[in-house]
Amino acid sequence: MSKAVREIKLACRNVWKVYGRRPAYYFDSRGYIIEPDVLAERLRAEAHLPAVVDATFEVATGEIFVIMGLSGSGKSTLVRCLSRLVEPSAGEILLDGRDLSKVSGKELIELRRHAMGMVFQNFGLLPHLTILGNVAFPLKIQGKPVKEREARAREMIALVGLEGRETSFPHQLSGGQQQRVGIARSLAVGPELWFLDEPFSALDPLIRRQMQDEFLRLQRMLQKTIVFITHDMAEAFRLADRLAIMRAGKIVQIGRPADIVLNPADDYVAQFTEDMPLLRVIKAGDLAAPANGATMPDESVAAGASLEDLIPRLASGIGAFTVPGEGASPPRLLGAGSVLAVLEREQKRRTRL
Ligand SMILES: Nc1ncnc2c1ncn2[C@@H]1O[C@H](COP(=O)(O)OP(=O)(O)OP(=O)(O)O)[C@@H](O)[C@H]1O
Ligand SMILES: [Mg+2]
Repeated sequence: MSKAVREIKLACRNVWKVYGRRPAYYFDSRGYIIEPDVLAERLRAEAHLPAVVDATFEVATGEIFVIMGLSGSGKSTLVRCLSRLVEPSAGEILLDGRDLSKVSGKELIELRRHAMGMVFQNFGLLPHLTILGNVAFPLKIQGKPVKEREARAREMIALVGLEGRETSFPHQLSGGQQQRVGIARSLAVGPELWFLDEPFSALDPLIRRQMQDEFLRLQRMLQKTIVFITHDMAEAFRLADRLAIMRAGKIVQIGRPADIVLNPADDYVAQFTEDMPLLRVIKAGDLAAPANGATMPDESVAAGASLEDLIPRLASGIGAFTVPGEGASPPRLLGAGSVLAVLEREQKRRTRL
């Protein structure tokens, strides 16, 4: 994440989702005072399923916040709680500071139609509508005139690179193309908040990478606030500004990719992230230190460059780099020593495997 201070677009505070016979029994109106792990244990012992356990996080405007975890860890339930497609058992969801549990059903539908975009794993296209019809569909629901909605739909179709396929039907497109249609459709209403639940997991690896690139390209243009769900570690690390790791309903760690690989919260996270190449995940900006009046080296490197990209320059004998500050922040220093320390750490991980 680059910008220093950003507004909070979406906040999730102590959110629980419990499935079972009488989840409400465990949460009174004053909120729970019991320790979350203890309550989750008790729920399990009493034939309830705590699908989301005390989730608290904030997503800044323009941020890509990735939620990852194994199958069944509660990711989809959590993202559905964020739009109240699933009603949380306890906790608060704040959109632009506004408590979503207090908005009426009608208002909520309006918010979902205008302020939120959603993309799901199984594409969810309407088979009897053309690509144009599918992408224009949410605008039809909004009651927009035909001309306006078709113009907007064509624009979105071009945005995802499907110009010329407007009159095709979904079954005539490949999986990757169908998912592009899903993306175009979710963007048609111009949502500020974009929820994507494993949008690329049905795609084969090569197409998947292309879609990730495409997604990052779109995000650079559109600057949405994004909650992106995946169980693919490489995808999570590639896309995330910050990520949350879930295990059995609970968020066990939240951090930037570099924080997570450098300081895993527990053995679970450490094991989970073991295969992520440190030199690729960690960026120059993650290691750079304040200059404290030192003379700045002539060689410079962007904060977003991976350590991997620096290796050839270090090998050619360069001992330190200037990392230019973003906005008004001052430039910082990156010494060869800190890069080598990461290299050593990676070496140790590899020999342990
Ligand atoms: N409507 C429901 N009723 C009862 N249990 C449910 C319901 N929906 C989800 N669950 C349970 O909640 C837990 C979390 O499910 P969820 O779909 O959120 O997992 P997930 O992390 O999205 O998994 P995946 O990666 O497979 O999509 C699972 O144990 C699931 O069986
Ligand atoms: Mg899921």
